[in-house]
Amino acid sequence: MAFLAQLLQRIKPSPTIAVSDRARALKAAGRDIIGLGAGEPDFDTPDNIKAAAKAAIDRGDTKYTTVDGAAALKQAICAKFKRENELDYAPAQITVGNGGKQVLFNALLATLDPGDEVIIPTPYWVSYPDMVQIAGGTPVFVPTSLEGGFKMRPEDLEAAITPNTKWLIFNSPSNPSGAAYEAAELKGLTDVVLRHAHVWVLTDDIYEHLVYDGFAFATPAQVEPGLSSRTLTMNGVSKAYAMTGWRIGYAGGAVELIRAMATIQSQSTTNPSSISQAAAIEALNGRQDFLVERAAVFAERRDLVVTMLNQAPGVRCPTPQGAFYVYPSCADLIGCKTPDGATIANDTDFVTYLLEAEGVAVVQGAAFGLEPHFRISYAASTEALTEACRRIQRACAALV
Ligand SMILES: Cc1ncc(COP(=O)(O)O)c(C=O)c1O
Repeated sequence: MAFLAQLLQRIKPSPTIAVSDRARALKAAGRDIIGLGAGEPDFDTPDNIKAAAKAAIDRGDTKYTTVDGAAALKQAICAKFKRENELDYAPAQITVGNGGKQVLFNALLATLDPGDEVIIPTPYWVSYPDMVQIAGGTPVFVPTSLEGGFKMRPEDLEAAITPNTKWLIFNSPSNPSGAAYEAAELKGLTDVVLRHAHVWVLTDDIYEHLVYDGFAFATPAQVEPGLSSRTLTMNGVSKAYAMTGWRIGYAGGAVELIRAMATIQSQSTTNPSSISQAAAIEALNGRQDFLVERAAVFAERRDLVVTMLNQAPGVRCPTPQGAFYVYPSCADLIGCKTPDGATIANDTDFVTYLLEAEGVAVVQGAAFGLEPHFRISYAASTEALTEACRRIQRACAALV
């Protein structure tokens, strides 16, 4: 009898974390590496948020809280949903976990039985399929395309729904493509879900505040209030407030689901850190002006990266509306030979070549379920991005 569970044969460690680890190891070995694999803002957590955490420690807010979030944080989240998304949630409809990741995990564990299907558009955030599998469900992928702006078409969603469909996982702006759905595009999808009363929507809005060129963010329960009773609206402070290490994510949804998720969390991690919760209250209730300033910086970096990548022979890079990623195609480079005579057979070969030849760490499209592409995180300095894109241009020009 094997000691490790059979489940581990179906799931894999996060490929994006693997790229970061490899880049770190090469750096430690003395190589000149530019790591563009990480999914976190390079800004610091704002001072008012840090101060709120320090005050919480000094006040003695260092004990267990309610499992799925202290009352004051749930109030702040209700106010945020109302203010920014026109969503009316009561505190009993709110859950708080250790990052958006745990919230998603709780929702899937609380609802999936063997045979249940979860629709995931590709390219997807690397964790969705594995989370679904850990929870015993079956991921059902709906491919999108660069030509279609990496957006799922209503007819493709319709075709993927079966009597076994439990959830649609929806992520806009998207990791890894940066695609963001306008309200009208989103309505096309919610109209489909509305017709299938057994399908719920798990929307991951974590990149809500990272949108550019005046893009107006919209979330499913907002564009289709008729779906609010079967939508779990997930969000968090990690990306918007540069708080990835604090581990606070949250969601609003049906009371019965929220209670079931709290039961799961009560038997795993109990509450998220009381100190991080105090920081999150300040993040949501405090000054918001830096969100726009930081988004403007990201937009500039995006433009730089898109322009320079499109100058790399064989790379096609559309301009995304949000998040801090681009997801260019390297289809025209498949079959080319490196100066060492190796053939680039797929996007994994291409990113390996970029790392070995030029010391640029990016993530292969295979990790996100849509090939041949690669993902670059532009949450890095202008200097690092300029140098990385120069190196990518050089690496592509050297392929024959
Ligand atoms: C699409 C998406 N959802 C959720 C998360 C997880 O966020 P958190 O750090 O709050 O767990 C990430 C982090 O990379 C993400 O990219």
